[in-house]
Parts: sequence; C-alpha cells; structure tokens
Amino acid sequence: MTTSSMGPLPLMRMAEVAQHITRGEMPRIIALSGDLGAGKTTLVKEILKQLGVGEEVSSPTFGIINEYETADHRKVCHSDWYRIKNAEELLDTGIQEYLHNPDCFVLIEWPEVGEALLNGEEALFINIEHAGEERVYHLELRH
Ligand SMILES: Nc1ncnc2c1ncn2[C@@H]1O[C@H](COP(=O)(O)OP(=O)(O)OP(=O)(O)O)[C@@H](O)[C@H]1O
Ligand SMILES: [Mg+2]
Repeated sequence: MTTSSMGPLPLMRMAEVAQHITRGEMPRIIALSGDLGAGKTTLVKEILKQLGVGEEVSSPTFGIINEYETADHRKVCHSDWYRIKNAEELLDTGIQEYLHNPDCFVLIEWPEVGEALLNGEEALFINIEHAGEERVYHLELRH
C-alpha cells in the first residue's frame, strides 16, 4: 500500500492532482470518497479531460454508469454509488462488467457500499477533505 497527500489546494490547482494521477501508468480503478460537495466530480472531470475525453462529462444519475472514450480509444466509465443501498442493488447496475474488464478505467464516487467488490483489484483510493476554500487530497494505492 502506498499513501500520499496533496494540499491544501484551491480549485485552480486541483489539476495538479489529476496530473499526478494520469501521468505514467494510471491505476485502472479510482475510488473517490469525501463529504457532499468535497470535489469528487470536479476531480473526475479534470482526470477525464486530461485523458482526452472530448465529450461533456456530467454526474451519473441513479444506477447509471456513464461511459466515455479516451484519446487513445480506451474505455472509461464514471459511476456514482451515493444512492445505492446495498451490494445487490449495485450488482443490478451491471458494474461488475466494468470492474473486472482489464481494458476499462473505472472512476467511482461514494465507493463505500461496494468496497468489497474492489478487493483483488488494484485501486487508487482518494479521500478529499474540506479545508476551508481548499481541499486536501489523500491518495492510497491498494494492491
Ligand atoms: N480544490 C478545490 N478548491 C475549492 N473548491 C473546489 C475544489 N474542488 C472542487 N471544488 C468545488 O466544490 C464544489 C463541489 O464539487 P463537486 O460537485 O465536485 O463535489 P462532489 O464531491 O462530487 O459532490 P457530491 O458529493 O454531491 O457528488 C464545486 O463548486 C467545486 O467547484
Ligand atoms: Mg459528485
């Protein structure tokens, strides 16, 4: 397990966190936790932008997995588990197909309800902490 922290960073420097993640070999699964409004979607959008996703990125609604394509034609999906009540509901979304697909990046907001599904997969866990008008990003790579 490798851990590191970045910040406190204002919004204008949030791209540095995304750069840290996308440069080199990006972990295939990224799980973003933090309070309501912590900045999870904002960071996801910046990561997707840096991967060359040209489309408009929006927040996934209940049970929906938004799928995009990176500049080098890799599949990337964005899912938000905030309203998912339990593992059964989560499985109904068809997420497993993405979680275990070696060709697909997966970015998850509110991953807690399905953390067990991530066991056995290398994943980067990011916890975003509010610090006034700035945010601290705690990164933990789990193998
Ligand atoms: N590093 C930052 N510094 C200051 N403001 C930030 C930073 N990152 C994000 N924000 C701001 O925080 C607000 C909430 O961001 P965002 O929607 O990404 O949060 P979220 O964690 O996805 O929320 P939710 O829990 O509702 O999904 C936005 O107005 C965004 O501009
Ligand atoms: Mg969000």
